[in-house]
Amino acid sequence: MIALCLSIHRRLFFKLYLLFCIFALAFAQTQRPNAVGQVASVRGVNLGGWFVTEPWITPSLYSIGGSGDTPIDEWSLCAALGKKKASDSLQDHYGSFFNRGDFEDIAAAGLNAVRIKHYADPLMFTLQPIGYWNVIEILDFEPYVGGAYPYIIRAVNWAAELGISVLLDLHGVPGSQNGQDNSGLSNIVSFQANLTNFDRAVAAIRNLTDEFSKEIYNGTVTTIELMNEPRISDANFTMSELKAYYSAAGQTVRQYSGGTLRVLIHDAFWGPGYWIGFDPSSNTTSTSPEWLDIDLHNYFAFAPNNNLPQEEILEKVCNTSQYLRETALLSPVLVGEWSLETGTAPNASPIGRAAQSQARRTWFRKLFEAQLSGYSAFGWYFWTWKTECKSEENAVGDTFT
Ligand SMILES: *[C@@H]1O[C@H](CO)[C@@H](O)[C@H](O)[C@H]1NC(C)=O
Ligand SMILES: *[C@@H]1O[C@H](CO)[C@@H](O)[C@H](O)[C@H]1NC(C)=O
Ligand SMILES: *[C@@H]1O[C@H](CO)[C@@H](O)[C@H](O)[C@H]1NC(C)=O
Ligand SMILES: *[C@@H]1O[C@H](CO)[C@@H](O)[C@H](O)[C@H]1NC(C)=O
Ligand SMILES: *[C@@H]1O[C@H](CO)[C@@H](O)[C@H](O)[C@H]1NC(C)=O
Ligand SMILES: *[C@@H]1O[C@H](CO)[C@@H](O)[C@H](O)[C@H]1NC(C)=O
Repeated sequence: MIALCLSIHRRLFFKLYLLFCIFALAFAQTQRPNAVGQVASVRGVNLGGWFVTEPWITPSLYSIGGSGDTPIDEWSLCAALGKKKASDSLQDHYGSFFNRGDFEDIAAAGLNAVRIKHYADPLMFTLQPIGYWNVIEILDFEPYVGGAYPYIIRAVNWAAELGISVLLDLHGVPGSQNGQDNSGLSNIVSFQANLTNFDRAVAAIRNLTDEFSKEIYNGTVTTIELMNEPRISDANFTMSELKAYYSAAGQTVRQYSGGTLRVLIHDAFWGPGYWIGFDPSSNTTSTSPEWLDIDLHNYFAFAPNNNLPQEEILEKVCNTSQYLRETALLSPVLVGEWSLETGTAPNASPIGRAAQSQARRTWFRKLFEAQLSGYSAFGWYFWTWKTECKSEENAVGDTFT
């Protein structure tokens, strides 16, 4: 069974690898300058599940046995294990889930195929989601154990050695901004409920800025994303609260990096168009500063886009592509997360993949190819590089390696 899976992975790998290179090269030639006149297009990958763990990415970490409820997020995992055991288990995870070899694989996978010409800067990109509990002090009532910081530094150093650029993303903020496991804490959105949360999130941004704008990192970290996927609703977390945070955190990045780090903001599912003209450093200007990028997550795995016919999915990718090309000159919009998952949220995916078929692989190829070309205006990051259980839809590295 394992051998079977491996050989299918290999075949798919070759096909995808060829497409990857062909498309990357094709688009290197049609690339347009972005808002600051740079010819640059990001082709990158998320290192999901490393510094914010998610049960579907590393189920073994979450299989803790015992009589209690199965943990659903890092908060409940730490609460169930207690500080000592949680710390042992997570230290082991931080030290082993990604290693230098993975960074070498990323570099080798062709994510930098466009470096051949046109591009002065290293064009291999990784997006590293980070939970605040790995950056700032943990308060008494929080079960988190943190402890990833030395591994974050080590990861940035590996990236530096291999010429890979890094985007650091504050994926989980105190209180949770979206009530999902990817924020560390599920089922509650309480970031906005308490100013302490706001201040601590800004402190985490300040820490990442201070650390990774140091000269010793040689510009490896190019960008900081202020918050992942905030869920805005009238009753709970409002747009004006989000904008106040984006202003404070965005100005922190600019001020303390001496203007060297870019700022990325997630569109909060309002569409990138809403943010064109937004300026974190002023409420009165109507143009976005050149250092601001907008993050769009384009999935077909989640409602309301989770049950679309294939043709409609491809049409939507084309529409997004046109939109991104139109807006590329106004404000750089990155597709910070996308995958090949359709119809089923990753968390619910069967693992191991019984239903291999030519038709399925052909569909993957089409969907991969369409999104590669469609999101190339300013660039993209695939979600994610690897999963413990080898998911072709959700982990491009599981296919490439
Ligand atoms: C939003 O606020 C309401 C009360 O205003 C609360 O009942 C609900 O649980 C909150 N939702 C989330 C996701 O935190
Ligand atoms: C805000 O949260 C902090 C801990 O994060 C807590 O100590 C404080 O009591 C909270 N304040 C309010 C008003 O809930
Ligand atoms: C950032 O936080 C880490 C972990 O708490 C700490 O070790 C480090 O000194 C801080 N860095 C800066 C520049 O404040
Ligand atoms: C720093 O990065 C530049 C390219 O941006 C490279 O030429 C140089 O060798 C790097 N220096 C170190 C010490 O890694
Ligand atoms: C913009 O207005 C909001 C809400 O009044 C405020 O919190 C924020 O600090 C302002 N930002 C700037 C840059 O003035
Ligand atoms: C794509 O855009 C066209 C033109 O705006 C629109 O008519 C069509 O419904 C869109 N297709 C999908 C699948 O959303």
